[in-house]
Amino acid sequence: MLIKNCKVLIDGVEKITDILIENEKIVKISENIQEETSQVIDVEGKWVIPGVVDVHCHMRDPGLSHKEDFTTGSMACARGGVTTFIDMPNTIPAVTTADILRDKKAMMSGKSYVDYGFNFGGSRNDNSEEIKQIIDEVASTKIFLNMSTGDMLITEDKVIENIFRESKIISVHAEEEMVAKAIELCEKYNKPLYLCHLSKASEAKTLKEAKARGLKVYGEVTPHHLFLNVDDVNADERSSMLLRMKPELKTKEDNEELWKALADGTIDAIGTDHAPHLIEEKLAKLTFGIPGVENSLEMMLKGVDEGKISMERLIEVMCTRPAEIFNIKNKGKIEVGYDADLVIIDRDDKSEIKNDKVITKANWTPYEKFNRGGRVITTILRGQIIYSNKEFYGRYGREINYHE
Ligand code: DOR
Ligand code: ZN
Ligand code: ZN
Repeated sequence: MLIKNCKVLIDGVEKITDILIENEKIVKISENIQEETSQVIDVEGKWVIPGVVDVHCHMRDPGLSHKEDFTTGSMACARGGVTTFIDMPNTIPAVTTADILRDKKAMMSGKSYVDYGFNFGGSRNDNSEEIKQIIDEVASTKIFLNMSTGDMLITEDKVIENIFRESKIISVHAEEEMVAKAIELCEKYNKPLYLCHLSKASEAKTLKEAKARGLKVYGEVTPHHLFLNVDDVNADERSSMLLRMKPELKTKEDNEELWKALADGTIDAIGTDHAPHLIEEKLAKLTFGIPGVENSLEMMLKGVDEGKISMERLIEVMCTRPAEIFNIKNKGKIEVGYDADLVIIDRDDKSEIKNDKVITKANWTPYEKFNRGGRVITTILRGQIIYSNKEFYGRYGREINYHE
């Protein structure tokens, strides 16, 4: 495949260039490539960015697949420009043993439109022996230090410490003072720590101090903790049910401080915490979690329009850094040798995001009535079009590989 006239960022410089793809990989990036290829696409100067890597998704499969499954969740990804996702372990059964992980991998094979990986779940029954067996087969060990959907909270220090000791990377659901506790353990066991969904200015400050001390600690923020706050929750009764998740939305000031932390490098990555529940479930009973993958890129482009971050920083925090932090091979960059995972974007389309147009089984979006900062026109996975103008192709997705 040859893609002509792509607007890309290379080493911080905006260029119009052609991209040549062979055997799933980017093989050449240069102006005016003249090659005989089976497929030529001229994007006429539209933006082309690396496929988004979303390391925080709850695809609900197996066990809660009425809310989402690997097929629908991955279609929502393709629609949103996400070409790699990492699935969270609070499915049913929870992914806390090597056997369950391997069963889940077998079950999910052939179901996804995009590439994917798995997080292993830390268990309160101390599954550190299991972690030893699967350490090279997962992105990280996810532990819950606060209560959330599922039954995966761990409170016993001995168990938490054993899990830190045996893991390669730890992803943590930690809120407020639990952030400091997770950082202490990161230091004690010298293990990379990924702080999921920071939601408060004070948490970003704690992260900044830890980084200044040289610790391998990384921070994630979700688009909803940047664009939404408690005023949106309190706007009406419907929003008071829908806009609920852990961590809860905070204040307008927190939104602003998190944007600054994202821009200045304190926060490393965007993850959506895509946590779908059906809209009927959300309206009937207080339920934590909201969908995110299909609007994350289009919303973050709005952040670029508003001057909150640059396009260069968007690509770092949505594509490059998540792949680097989790040692994911060949993803997150437009570079020769990398997988040809690409998103073609129409930056001129600032149309309204609509609830009745979503792909997720949840059947709603928290960004209804926001105007997108651009539209995903086409998503390419390893050189194959998987989504273009509302049509889906393939189910070519397969499990990602990790560096040693
Ligand atoms: O709101 C949330 N929902 N927060 C989490 O940490 C888990 C998630 C879910 O799985 O529903
Ligand atoms: Zn969480
Ligand atoms: Zn989550």
